[in-house]
Amino acid sequence: MINEIEVIKTKNSKINEVDFSNLKFGSVFSDHMLECDFKDGKWQAPKVVPYAPISLDPAAKIFHYGQSVFEGMKAYKDADGNVLLFRPIDNVKRLNISSKRLAIPEIPENYFMDGLKTLLEVDEAWIPTQDGSSLYIRPFVFASGAGFHASPANEYKFIIATAPSGAYFSGEVRVLIEEKYSRSANGGVGYAKAGGNYAGQFYPTQLAIEKGYQQVIWTDDNTHEYIEEAGAMNIFVRINDTLITGPTSDRILDGITRKSIIELAESENINVEVRPLKVAEVVEAAKNGSLKEMFGAGTAAVISPISGFGYKGDDFELPKLEDTYASFLKKRITDIQTNKVEDPFGWRL
Ligand code: COI
Repeated sequence: MINEIEVIKTKNSKINEVDFSNLKFGSVFSDHMLECDFKDGKWQAPKVVPYAPISLDPAAKIFHYGQSVFEGMKAYKDADGNVLLFRPIDNVKRLNISSKRLAIPEIPENYFMDGLKTLLEVDEAWIPTQDGSSLYIRPFVFASGAGFHASPANEYKFIIATAPSGAYFSGEVRVLIEEKYSRSANGGVGYAKAGGNYAGQFYPTQLAIEKGYQQVIWTDDNTHEYIEEAGAMNIFVRINDTLITGPTSDRILDGITRKSIIELAESENINVEVRPLKVAEVVEAAKNGSLKEMFGAGTAAVISPISGFGYKGDDFELPKLEDTYASFLKKRITDIQTNKVEDPFGWRL
């Protein structure tokens, strides 16, 4: 533990204004946040402070050059009231991998972990216990230092804010396989959780929504022949009884849910293939009936089944199976996360 983390508590808790039985995703925020500044060449001591707007110089480089990265994680409470995290060290490490790519100074792991633990102690009452709900945790780092020169800032802010949250998606998810736009390229920042990676998705996703889909399936920037990700999530496709997902690369995010699903499925003797997956193979499988399931995987939505997809003007439906890998794996992973079952992998903390 780093030296005692300073805690400044709010005098006006908002917790009684929140309807915990009717939570949306990421739209109400807990009473406190962790705040930590990088200045004079080093990260200063983190503090827990009341959740509130922050004041920034209009020339802060985040506004001009988008120098920012973030993480997504969740806290759960088990039946005995223990507070649990899922593979949090992986989030810290990935935040620093993302930071390095964006020329942002890496945060010491103990600042992140000790700060988060203190924040969760202070806002423990905000962790929902309803099935399917959790406290979504959003750690982020951005350039607060000012200047119009296009170069890394000399000051940054690291904040962890939290939001009691329900499901990310409501209703069915139909997707459009993208033929023109791409979210990433070799040598680019696709593997990092850079804020701009998500902003770049909004316009193509709006176009897909106008056509009646909810999300875009990203294909590779070079040929648009290979399936890469599903919206802001990794993607899995089940053909016959084999689960297939693309390999991580410069372009594909090393998702923590993604890699947990691979390990979990393999431990359940499900055949998993991590390999490039052609759109043509998925279309062919849809036509010959061997395409059984497609689902997105990410922290926010956990596992999000896809009900159908559009490609080059044609629409394809996924079968409505009774027992899906998606529901089986979602239950396994959320049962581990919420301490309903043993955790043979050592993921829960
Ligand atoms: C997550 O799944 O936590 C993500 O980072 C996706 C986010 C854009 C909601």
